Amino acid sequence: MIVLCGKQFSQKLCAGAWRTFVSKVEKEPYWRAKFPDGIASFDDIPTVTEKYDLRKYPEVAEGWFKKCGHVVKERMPYGKYNVHLFHFEDFKTVYGSDGDFPIRQSHHVIAQYREERKHLYDHVGLGPGQGSEWRHLRDIARGKAFALRPSKRKSEDAANDLVEIIKNNLNEKGEIELLPWLHRWAFESIGIVALNRRLNVLSKVDNELTDKMVAAAALTDELIALTTLDPTNMYDERFKQLVEAQDFFYSVLRKYIDAIKRDIELEPETEGVAQILLQSESCSEKDAITLIIDLFHGALQTVPLTALMAFYNVARNGDVQAEAREETKQRMPKKYSRYFDVTEPQDYIGSIIYETFRLNPPIIGNGRVIQRDLVLGGYSVPAYTNVILDFQVACRQEENYEEPLKFIPGRADPNRITYVFGGSKRMCLGKAFALRQLLLVVAKVIRNFEILYDGGEINMINQLHNRPEEPLILRLKPIDE
Ligand code: HEM
Repeated sequence: MIVLCGKQFSQKLCAGAWRTFVSKVEKEPYWRAKFPDGIASFDDIPTVTEKYDLRKYPEVAEGWFKKCGHVVKERMPYGKYNVHLFHFEDFKTVYGSDGDFPIRQSHHVIAQYREERKHLYDHVGLGPGQGSEWRHLRDIARGKAFALRPSKRKSEDAANDLVEIIKNNLNEKGEIELLPWLHRWAFESIGIVALNRRLNVLSKVDNELTDKMVAAAALTDELIALTTLDPTNMYDERFKQLVEAQDFFYSVLRKYIDAIKRDIELEPETEGVAQILLQSESCSEKDAITLIIDLFHGALQTVPLTALMAFYNVARNGDVQAEAREETKQRMPKKYSRYFDVTEPQDYIGSIIYETFRLNPPIIGNGRVIQRDLVLGGYSVPAYTNVILDFQVACRQEENYEEPLKFIPGRADPNRITYVFGGSKRMCLGKAFALRQLLLVVAKVIRNFEILYDGGEINMINQLHNRPEEPLILRLKPIDE
């Protein structure tokens, strides 16, 4: 039942919010047909209380949407509600109201870890940081260092190494589990831009360390998701696990940073995020390390998982693969042509990446604590509510895309799909870098291999990032011309 602004609080909120809304938007909001006479109250938002497996969150959230509509509230253990949103218009409203200090309520387990280690960290970092503390780090990240434009030569060498390694690691059937190699390549690639070094972690020799770093990042992600979505359950146990993973992560990056410091003493360096930050007067050494850790952490899962799903989709759509290969051949006509020698646009490869973000995004969505009263989906939602912007669910709905489960490059509107990187002043710091890396790796692999997949639909689970439940084995046939 719609309560037409019955309560005193709702009346004030509804009238104000409605006036703001009407003055700003010309077209009718998507929810107008559902609520022709006004705005419903917070209490009217359908409530879900079920317990569920957090790894299955995307399916559960889709079920809520199907049953209850575009806005659902979930009762949280500490007596508050999370409000889940499933419509792009509401995402726009939320990000549009973010102001200068957007609040994302996640990563508090990382905040605790760093706060307890004042000798290593001055600030909790970009993930958990809020207010002026977050702004301070984000301001540092606005400088030249954070253009995150790696050396083209080093980047291409790393991608070529990946191609060679794939060739050398195909089994007798031509199969390979690509994800671990994509993780190592991502480590190498973020090392190039963050440390201006080839870390040589793609080679077999150093893989143990790399794999442990990737595992530490994956475990940290999972623990962030669990402690955010289920904050009261097994917290101490989860925190203990996080300490181990983060201690290791820090120790590895600390060694790299110490080596760079020694090199800088011998000769100042002007390239590389670490080099620039370590020589900057406005950034403390502790903040430099915090930011470098945040960059590595941001890069190790997202890009590999997106690339993997792009290959999976390409393997299942022969016509898409053929068109993509034509484009890569134009850019790299000879087998050993350099990708960066030509600046041909890669429109089709780009549209494959965007369609992959739509159909198989590496994240389910994003969160915000809204800082003023908002009308979302026709309901009044009070300031300081935690809202979850369920990007993945919205992307898979018939109301937004015809036959949404089909992979059709070119149809995903970049303005919408860009929400995969969040929004407002807090949008993903690695967005441009991630897109460049994806264009490079997808083009290189498609140019060098025919990609085949004989299995059925792969099951995905969420551990902060969406990943295949079982190893995804692809068959790759080297292209010889
Ligand atoms: C496909 C790739 C990626 C996706 C889909 C992705 C997605 C996201 C999302 C949704 C957020 C939250 C933004 C918000 O609250 O508005 C975020 C934040 C962040 N990302 Fe990414 N990301 C990707 C790659 C990367 C890479 C490669 C890096 C590092 C080089 C990175 C570093 C970060 C950092 C540091 C933040 C925290 C920003 C802040 O709170 O100020 N991300 N990312």
